[in-house]
Amino acid sequence: MKDIILTGDRPTGNLHLGHYVGSIANRLKFQNEYNYEKFYIMIADTQALTDNADKVDKVKNNIIQVTIDYLSAGIDPNKVNIFIQSQVPSLFEITSYFLNLVTLSRLQRNPTIKEELKVRAFEKSIPVGFMTYPISQAADILAFQTTLVPVGEDQLPMIEQTREILNTFNNLYEPKSQVFATPKAVLPSIKICERLPGIDGKIKMSKSAGNAINLCDTPEIVKQKVMSAYTDPNHIKVSDPGKIEGNVVFAYLDAFCNNEHFKKFLPDYENLEQLKSHYKKGGLGDVKVKLFLNNILQELLDPIREKRALLEKDIDSIYEMLFENSKKAEIEAQKTLNKMKEAMGIDYKKLIKNA
Ligand code: TRP
Repeated sequence: MKDIILTGDRPTGNLHLGHYVGSIANRLKFQNEYNYEKFYIMIADTQALTDNADKVDKVKNNIIQVTIDYLSAGIDPNKVNIFIQSQVPSLFEITSYFLNLVTLSRLQRNPTIKEELKVRAFEKSIPVGFMTYPISQAADILAFQTTLVPVGEDQLPMIEQTREILNTFNNLYEPKSQVFATPKAVLPSIKICERLPGIDGKIKMSKSAGNAINLCDTPEIVKQKVMSAYTDPNHIKVSDPGKIEGNVVFAYLDAFCNNEHFKKFLPDYENLEQLKSHYKKGGLGDVKVKLFLNNILQELLDPIREKRALLEKDIDSIYEMLFENSKKAEIEAQKTLNKMKEAMGIDYKKLIKNA
């Protein structure tokens, strides 16, 4: 049996380099090198609304923005079904039945939810939809018979909870045939890629922290951000020895640079190890390293920007694709929903004897 792959993003902002190394690169690899049965990328607009009920416009506008980010980064709509969560009604029916299989205290113990509650300023008014989004995410995953879920580390508790729901369902209803496939998380292969730091040196690149380089940033903005990136505050003169740990420029080089880049942009060095050791010894200025990084990033982003400019000329056909794909996704989700109802014994139409 070939794998069914499903992953998703909340449409709350344009995608940035953190997304690129953390998920897009991984998806491109699956798309281009893996022999799968189906590959879905879901735009999780309903999930985004669980903490953005007052920002519907933001979520709405970012559905198309994120889709253009995917397509311009190389996701091929002929190989991948990009669809919109809210346009697949069966997902919400599946969620309804799952809601009864999870306790409130289990949700409160979900590490990702706990972490997010700390960051969000809900105080005492936590939306119920927010607390229960792991259950709706389980529906997203199980509805499509997903076997592989490429995600970042922060999503592991969601996959774990999904598998719990699957087991609870099977124990409770003891289906005669298989209702769901068992999903497995796939993490990005390079460690630095899971949490690319922001340009300010803060732990994680994110839109809300204002420390991101977006895939759609202009060359000028990218350069400006690179030149302002956090390095080693004690590396003041070129002759000073510099630190690599915590140095954002080197973290990005770890994620994006290869030996070809040295040949092309910085032939005085053969590889990153040489560059790092010179920096540590002293005698290598930040500006030189930053200009090198800028060249690498511009080379990565140029074709993405070009593609984006083309795609933006025909937004309508992108929307049409999304709706078409959502219809196809609904057909698949409905199959699972029907199997669930049969297992639960709530396929009421069967009550008509001569049907
Ligand atoms: N929770 C994911 C995020 O915040 C988005 C998401 C929703 C998702 N449903 C999913 C990811 C299903 C993988 C599978 O990025």
